[in-house]
Amino acid sequence: MSALSERPENPVVGVREPHESAVGHVTGAALYTDDIAVRGGALTAWPVQAPHAHAFVTDMRVEKALAVPGVVRVLTAEDVPGINDAGVKGDEPLFPTEVMYYGHAVCWVLGETPEAARLGAAAVEVDYEPLPSLVTIREAIEAESFQGPQRLTKRGDADAALATAPRVFEGVTEFPGQEHFYLETMASLAYYDEGGTLYVQAGTQHPSETQEIVAHVLGLTNNEVAVQCIRMGGGFGGKEMQPHGLAAIAAIGTSLTGRPVRLRLNRTQDITITGKRHGFHVSWKAGFSDEGKILALKATLTADGGWSLDLSEAVLGRALCHLDNAYWIPDMEALGRISKTNKTSQTAFRGFGGPQGVFVIEDIMGRCAPELGIDPAELRRRNFYVAGQTTPYGQPVRHPERMHEIWDQVIETSDFAERSADIAAFNAAHENAKRALAITPIKFGISFNVAAFNQAGALVLVYKDGSVLINHGGTEMGQGLHTKMIQVAATALGVPRSAVRLAPTRTDKVPNTSATAASTGADLNGGAVKNACEQIRERMAGVAATMLRANPSDVRFSHGTVTALGQHATLTFDEVAQEAYLQRVQLSASGYYRTEGLHWDAEAWFGSPFKYFAYGAAATEVEVDGFTGAYRIRRVDIVHDVGDSLSPIIDIGQVEGGFVQGMGWLTLEDLRWDASDGPNRGRLLTQAASTYKLPSFSEMPEEFNVSLYERAHEGGVVYGSKAVGEPPLMLAFSAREALRQAAAAFGPAGTPCDLASPATPENVFWALQRAALQNADMRVDAPTADAAAEPSLARS
Ligand code: MTE
Ligand code: HPA
Ligand code: MOS
Repeated sequence: MSALSERPENPVVGVREPHESAVGHVTGAALYTDDIAVRGGALTAWPVQAPHAHAFVTDMRVEKALAVPGVVRVLTAEDVPGINDAGVKGDEPLFPTEVMYYGHAVCWVLGETPEAARLGAAAVEVDYEPLPSLVTIREAIEAESFQGPQRLTKRGDADAALATAPRVFEGVTEFPGQEHFYLETMASLAYYDEGGTLYVQAGTQHPSETQEIVAHVLGLTNNEVAVQCIRMGGGFGGKEMQPHGLAAIAAIGTSLTGRPVRLRLNRTQDITITGKRHGFHVSWKAGFSDEGKILALKATLTADGGWSLDLSEAVLGRALCHLDNAYWIPDMEALGRISKTNKTSQTAFRGFGGPQGVFVIEDIMGRCAPELGIDPAELRRRNFYVAGQTTPYGQPVRHPERMHEIWDQVIETSDFAERSADIAAFNAAHENAKRALAITPIKFGISFNVAAFNQAGALVLVYKDGSVLINHGGTEMGQGLHTKMIQVAATALGVPRSAVRLAPTRTDKVPNTSATAASTGADLNGGAVKNACEQIRERMAGVAATMLRANPSDVRFSHGTVTALGQHATLTFDEVAQEAYLQRVQLSASGYYRTEGLHWDAEAWFGSPFKYFAYGAAATEVEVDGFTGAYRIRRVDIVHDVGDSLSPIIDIGQVEGGFVQGMGWLTLEDLRWDASDGPNRGRLLTQAASTYKLPSFSEMPEEFNVSLYERAHEGGVVYGSKAVGEPPLMLAFSAREALRQAAAAFGPAGTPCDLASPATPENVFWALQRAALQNADMRVDAPTADAAAEPSLARS
């Protein structure tokens, strides 16, 4: 317990509050960036996208576009008054002379209407000189096309441990990226206010960075640009970095025409222009004892970065720091590198490299368990961290007992043993359908792995009538951060939830903010909101003490009333606010928070980069059809650790949504790029929901039980809570492992199964065919996992 984590009596945090915009979301009353634009008669910006994976732009003629009625201007590199770069690494020209991927925007057309802009874009003539391209990660590895530094994480001597390990396995694990498919595509709206400030409304998880990039592209200082984000219809990491350049395009348009400019990508543009989750290629060697204790791991991880660095270095870093997942690996050596390919620039996506690291070790566990002759659930359990152990990068693993308790709870509440027996009986009785039940753990590190980002600010205003308005640096993308911040403010000020309103995130209210990312939104901004509220409450306690003739330290604020210990008199919060004003006591405060106790040496790859770990476990049961590989998710049981929940309905929603999104990545969503030598090489083939299969109602688990781990107070975090946004995504590994086990069940007992990714019905089918081949009476020609994973239309 700490001052930060301690809760007062009857707190407003922990109450089952609906999302603050729930009614607006379902009625359509909640506005998004482009809804504001539609009201304003703004110009529309439309991209001209290159039809080559890699090419020089040799000539561009805009005259025909300008002749299209309603076209106002064509924006090109010559229109950039500042720096022609959309990123923070200097490798992302906003208007490129070298096309780096199929669909790269080479210029933008401004029109009076979307239709005029679209026709104008079609009329721009661009000449290209095509260049050789690298589309798949394997092509990039072959060509040694890498970008950014390589990273090595090392503990002990993996080679020596592998040389003496009783059981050694090696393999290649390859898995694809994932499209964010947020419901609201990228949107911004730029205009000047009457004082000459360039205002940009944008769907961005990082308004301060959008502000900075708009400023440097326009050659302005940060105080000349203000960015506001009202809310996003989903971000999932996709709006952590990539809205910046698009906002800058709208801002250039405004600066040249003096008119409001809106830029909202349609779905096809969004999916072909913006980055995705990184796919990885991993080669590994793992050593086990005969009892199934993992002794050593050696691996080379290659992340598919796409055409520019963007956030790839930090994503790779988090992957390397999650290779252990929940397991003690005494000797480990892992090399990480980022390939450079002619594809969209891959970026943050829920879990931010964590899922990719965890994928590797869970794949190893799932593949090796049958070889070791150990039940996969038992193999996993045997390797859990215990007290006193540290991660390979040197961070002590605090509370490993939580992992054990959560695991046991899931085993119990899911009736794991009994259902496993039922499943064995079902499988024995059914030749062409098999079921399986798998359980997997998650341990996920919370904090930005760039230490400086772990800070936040807030501005809290109490008006004379006692009503409260809060601003904080975090953005709302559906995850319920604003709801939590309202609950934090109400708790800290001792007022009812209804007394608090929240104003949209703006860089001219709270400056120098970090991205709302790394699941830290509530930890960081909650710390800052609480800090601001406490400053005000302390001043108001002084005023109330005089009114109540008590000592300020004896004054209590709770649900809108103000009392003093041992006194009968009761004041209202409003009365004290009014009196404070009359006494000229300040009723507003800016709050600040920085996460204590973090240190990280990125060169040595050593330190304690995380404030704490979030834990969880999931048990998933599937049924697979032997003729088609089609499957159903029959039941999911989850116990997840969110500390003392700030807002239980929100947190359960995050666990459910995270699980389903992870399940989509692992079992349904299949990004395909044209890797042929034809004219469309490098083109994303799955450009719409019709070809890119997202989870929908029909893929929901038929029974879905989510519990929050109880008595889970986390000292040192706001009101004892823990972050929830990303970790539950990785509970979906239980679905992949269940599919692996079900496919294996088509073969004789103990058949190992190498399941290609994503585990679509097609890949499950090939896996079960290979397993079935092991039956003495089966002779079917099925491709190997490798061939199945690498058709000419390659995944990434
Ligand atoms: N939940 C919804 N509904 N929409 C989102 O875009 N993004 C996820 C997660 N949950 C997201 C979401 C990601 S990637 C992160 S990092 C966290 O929310 C960010 O918000 P938080 O830090 O407030 O949890
Ligand atoms: N998560 C999300 N964004 C980040 C991180 C992280 O760990 N590090 C730097 N940017
Ligand atoms: Mo989340 S990937 O950190 O925005």
